[in-house]
Amino acid sequence: EQARIGVTGLAVMGRNLARNLARHGHPVAVHNRTSTKTKALVEEFGHEGTFVPAESAEDFVAALERPRRLVIMVKAGAPTDAVIDEFAPLLEPGDMIVDGGNAHFADTRRREAALRERGLHFVGTGISGGEEGALNGPSIMPGGSAESYDALGPLLEDISAKVDGTPCATHVGPDGAGHFVKMVHNGIEYADMQLIAEAYDLLRHAAGLAPAEIAEVFRTWNTGRLESYLIEITAEVLAHTDAATGKPFVDVVLDQAEQKGTGRWTVQTALDLGVPVGGIAEAVFARAVSGHADVRNASQNLPGPSRAKVEESGFADAVEQALYASKIVAYAQGFHEIQAGSAEYDWSIDPGAMATIWRGGCIIRARFLDKIREAYDADPGLPTLLKAEHFAEAVGAAQDAWRQVITTGVRLGIPTPGFSAALAYYDSLRAERLPAALTQGQRDFFGAHTYRRTDRDGSFHTLWGGDRTETGA
Ligand code: 6PG
Repeated sequence: EQARIGVTGLAVMGRNLARNLARHGHPVAVHNRTSTKTKALVEEFGHEGTFVPAESAEDFVAALERPRRLVIMVKAGAPTDAVIDEFAPLLEPGDMIVDGGNAHFADTRRREAALRERGLHFVGTGISGGEEGALNGPSIMPGGSAESYDALGPLLEDISAKVDGTPCATHVGPDGAGHFVKMVHNGIEYADMQLIAEAYDLLRHAAGLAPAEIAEVFRTWNTGRLESYLIEITAEVLAHTDAATGKPFVDVVLDQAEQKGTGRWTVQTALDLGVPVGGIAEAVFARAVSGHADVRNASQNLPGPSRAKVEESGFADAVEQALYASKIVAYAQGFHEIQAGSAEYDWSIDPGAMATIWRGGCIIRARFLDKIREAYDADPGLPTLLKAEHFAEAVGAAQDAWRQVITTGVRLGIPTPGFSAALAYYDSLRAERLPAALTQGQRDFFGAHTYRRTDRDGSFHTLWGGDRTETGA
């Protein structure tokens, strides 16, 4: 039997994606560099659908109906190039290679251009939702040509998560657009996780709550506007007790956060595009700070304030407000980056559609994303999510509590880089005048870099070393 689609790379993500396809009635060819994985998959899960195992690259390609749809699920970077180099010569014009890994969008652009030259479609695709999502319905963010989406879209939509019957998969845009959006998704994921971590830290060390009590707080939050996968699993992690010691699990885990790079890429790319994503950047840096054990050890006895606990009742509610407001900022920054990337690379990405496909399947899935979609539906030209009616009102109502929570952290010496950066961004956007005018004056003073004026067009320079008259047109 000819397979409708093939998956090569049968580590857990690839294996689960292949099973998802088979379970939806799509005959799927499966291939792996070492064929033991292929055999194991068919032995264990063969009853779930039609699998066509292939030992060699040639057999794999031969097993696919045309135009061929070949999904590669290998490590980003050199392994992806190696697999492309292995299969591309075996394919024919019109065939499609889908890269479902977390590739850098610049690599995807390069690969797409090279394969397009050879008449092949290259579809860099973000897939979110971890192992469970890959099996039961991920959020899928494919880039590449519209033509390739015509051939792939129905399959991808079929196996994706659904929310209110709407698939969490759509064509994001040409070449690297899908991986770009997945990258920013991960940047937002980092920010969301950092903000949750700060909320936990404040409840623990400012209010003195125990992890199990904080788990209850998160469970309550998960019934309200913060309802989301990350809040839900936070409660689970906090409620978990370590079997070996009987201590809260969170107290026996080494407090050094790791990362594979997508959050960092989000910030590097934002720097290149000149988009302010301070909230996301602080989340990446917070992981970096945690990992520098040497510097942290050397800093243990630096002076700090006494840590008298806060007594105020209502502190947890204030933290909820700070968390919600900061979360809105993280999304506002992420969507700004998506729009800037879309403009830079001519992708015509529809931000509302991205919010729609993130509502289910992915790590940042949340009730809140409906609001983002509604905001872009109401005004596709929205300059920032913070100006959407719902978000402007929510942040306006939360801002006193937000400031109070950060002040508490500052007073007690509990770091809140995410909350604080988010608030600074909000206040910067709100400000009628920014001190950037002074920066411009300094630049003109030391380097004659010129400035623009509020009252007239043109570039101006003041003769700082002379009589300080203004020149320019
Ligand atoms: C997803 C996730 C996933 C990513 C992990 C790990 O959307 O399913 O983003 O793609 O691999 O979240 O990221 P870090 O190791 O960098 O934390």
